[in-house]
Amino acid sequence: MKKTPQTALIHAPRKAPQFISTVQPPLFRASTIIFDNTDALFNRHWTERYDYSYGTHGTPTTFTLGDNIAQIEGGEFSLLAPSGLSAINLVNSCFLAQGDEVWVADNIYGPNMEHLRNLQTRYGIAVKVYNPIDAETFQPSAKAKLIWLEAAGSVTLEFPDLTGLVKKAKAQSILTALDNTWGAGLAFNAFDFGNEHLNVDISVHALTKYPSGGGDILMGSVVTRDEKLHHQLFRMHALQGISISGDDAAQIQRSLASMQIRYEHQSRSAMTLMHWLKQQPEFIQILHPADEASAGHPYWKEICAIGQSAGLVSVIFKPEYDLKAVRAFCDALTLFKLGFSWGGPVSLVMLYDLKDMRVLAHTHLQQGLLVRFCIGLEHPQDLIQDIENALKQMKTPQNE
Ligand SMILES: Cc1ncc(COP(=O)(O)O)c(C=O)c1O
Repeated sequence: MKKTPQTALIHAPRKAPQFISTVQPPLFRASTIIFDNTDALFNRHWTERYDYSYGTHGTPTTFTLGDNIAQIEGGEFSLLAPSGLSAINLVNSCFLAQGDEVWVADNIYGPNMEHLRNLQTRYGIAVKVYNPIDAETFQPSAKAKLIWLEAAGSVTLEFPDLTGLVKKAKAQSILTALDNTWGAGLAFNAFDFGNEHLNVDISVHALTKYPSGGGDILMGSVVTRDEKLHHQLFRMHALQGISISGDDAAQIQRSLASMQIRYEHQSRSAMTLMHWLKQQPEFIQILHPADEASAGHPYWKEICAIGQSAGLVSVIFKPEYDLKAVRAFCDALTLFKLGFSWGGPVSLVMLYDLKDMRVLAHTHLQQGLLVRFCIGLEHPQDLIQDIENALKQMKTPQNE
């Protein structure tokens, strides 16, 4: 058929080969997926694991990434969402209904708590808070449907009593969902952990952090090992239309090759900083799960047996350092940039006032302003120098 120039631009004569061997898998971008014929159209099964019928349900690019994430985490099935928070929300909206009870750790990722409080107000879902290092504070009623775990909590870095909490939840058939962003599937296996080889039901991961590694892409995943749970999540995922871009998936896929090396480097650097920070007189407390003095350290030791501990370390300034002083410290840092998130190449710093962030009284946390350092890929000695300089500047007369 002879084509007009406009049509020829769209239906080009040359078709790229579909199967050539490359280091990175080919990138598929798709909203529409073209069916070969009406048989293929009518025989599509969009609820099957690798069905190609529409972009929101997945492409080879997104399935490749999803399978990789499931494998890293020790799971079987995965779904990808546009951000870590949307992956969290997918779990909440899938499993919680009016009248249910949900349990969250007091140190849970803040927006998860806010989302649940919103559900509480609108749908009468009771939000109950437990202390992650004391499984006795988890006292579910018969209405409890879901418990959120986070190991370690991403600001105060307590490592929870995962064994105690998961055993208790399982005894009452309560779903266990772990925010696995800190461990990233590398510090421990969420589907086979501890001496008793326990597992959570659902692992949520903000791929925005270590899998992306660039500080430039948002994505989240929900991994399970249970096909029935996966199908429930899969249907909700499809109903909500929360799909991701093929380009973003390909970028994260490309970064996975270096993830373990980056994670281990950042974990080692954070430990180096933690030991140095402990010697500095300005701080009243250093928070890091590998430190014996940190809350939940024995649980970390049992579960993260290979000794990994991500790239986060927090400090609490002595109470004499007021907001003005601590802001001056943060502003004086040059390598550490002021910003949310972690897992990227650039070290980040964030300032928190715990007074507004906790429901329960925590005797293990000292009074004072908290600063969290997220260690990037810089040399740890340069980062120490940066903090040392900023501490000196904080004390200059114009800041006092
Ligand atoms: C522990 C944890 N979970 C989930 C998220 C949410 O990830 P995202 O920023 O991709 O929404 C974050 C983000 O900071 C986080 O720290």
